[in-house]
Amino acid sequence: MATLAERWDLRPEHFWMRDGRPDKPVETDENGVCNVYGYQAILDVFGDPKTYSSDVTRFFLADTETDDSFNEGTLLQADPPEHTKLRKLISRSFTAKMVAGLEPRISAITREILDAMDGKDEFDLVAEVTYPMPVIVIAELLGVPGSDRDLFRGWVDRMTDSATALASEGGGTAGGEEPDAQAAMRHVPEMLAYLHEHVAERRRVPREDLLSALIASEVDGKRLDDAAVVNFANELLVVGHATTSALLGNTVLCLDSHPEDLARVRKRPETAAAVVEEALRYMSPIAASYRVSTTDTRLGDTEVSAGTLVALWLGAANRDPEQFPEPNVFDPTRDPNAHLAFGRGIHFCLGAPLARLEGRLGLNLLLERFPELRTDPDNPPEFWALPHVIATSKLPLRVG
Ligand code: HEM
Repeated sequence: MATLAERWDLRPEHFWMRDGRPDKPVETDENGVCNVYGYQAILDVFGDPKTYSSDVTRFFLADTETDDSFNEGTLLQADPPEHTKLRKLISRSFTAKMVAGLEPRISAITREILDAMDGKDEFDLVAEVTYPMPVIVIAELLGVPGSDRDLFRGWVDRMTDSATALASEGGGTAGGEEPDAQAAMRHVPEMLAYLHEHVAERRRVPREDLLSALIASEVDGKRLDDAAVVNFANELLVVGHATTSALLGNTVLCLDSHPEDLARVRKRPETAAAVVEEALRYMSPIAASYRVSTTDTRLGDTEVSAGTLVALWLGAANRDPEQFPEPNVFDPTRDPNAHLAFGRGIHFCLGAPLARLEGRLGLNLLLERFPELRTDPDNPPEFWALPHVIATSKLPLRVG
């Protein structure tokens, strides 16, 4: 039987999606990039932030016009000790408990979005559901007023449109991401100015929202300044939006290719969390994370010189037979399922509880609303053309 990747013609570089294995767990390619595919080797890199820095901006944003203040407050590219301080401050407000409290609102938002689909026989899951849902959730979380929701969504859409347009023109290599990031960033200042206004307002009159909590957060007498709060809010949008959309789309595609599992989760909605977890492993939305080596070192059998870009292929590691029995079988009952889709170590995804919650609720509400839900061979899904992402940019579904 054709794999999901063969059926929908996924990029050949994502060889694990076609049940392929790399020749070696660590390999340096002709561009000098050190590619890491093995589960254990990736854990070694994640566990050693001193040797493998997260500050890879020079590889991806080399020509982008940003000043240093743009990165202030963002976690992904920060290294210890700055990362440690920042993560402590942010984790105080962005807690799993706070996220769990969002469940009723996320359900209401998702139901509202699904209501608009009433009477349709076919719709694009990405445009209609998985794109709007996480933006609205993050806007609510931050405390963007309901009346500004459309304004806010407009900025995010424009950022995403430029990124999608460039990505579908085919950004091939790691370097291909530069123009993509530049175009997306052109729309950022207006949104940052808007967030700045709200931060200033929350300083005057705090509310029950994440912006107010971030402003109030204090560790060892230190607080986040306005620029750091605004940049983190923007980071939440950038990293939390497309990934969550990808998670829902990928989960639907996995179930579409595994009808018995689809039937099972329809009958037992309480198994949705495990289905989402297995979809994260089997079809990891972030195929790769990046690091740069700070010193000459050795990873497995491979010499890595200082200043090398290290690509951690999370999707491939999540199919490593040393870690997962029968790695190419989609098995929602898999236990344990210690996948690396959210990374590991000090940069472990801060949004994982939110992504898991949105994934579980989104899937259950979608199945509850549509007793029929299937892909359309005449109108196949389209995928982002970026090497480090596996996500649909269009996912037409038939429901009638
Ligand atoms: C970090 C994946 C959703 C916020 C990460 C990392 C991965 C990841 C792999 C680690 C990157 C690295 O170490 O280089 C995902 C996936 C998601 C998802 C697959 C959805 C399925 C979200 C959401 C949010 C979020 C919904 C927030 C609203 C973050 C933040 C970091 C991060 C702030 C940086 C943490 C740090 O550097 O300390 N994510 N993410 N993510 N994620 Fe997510």
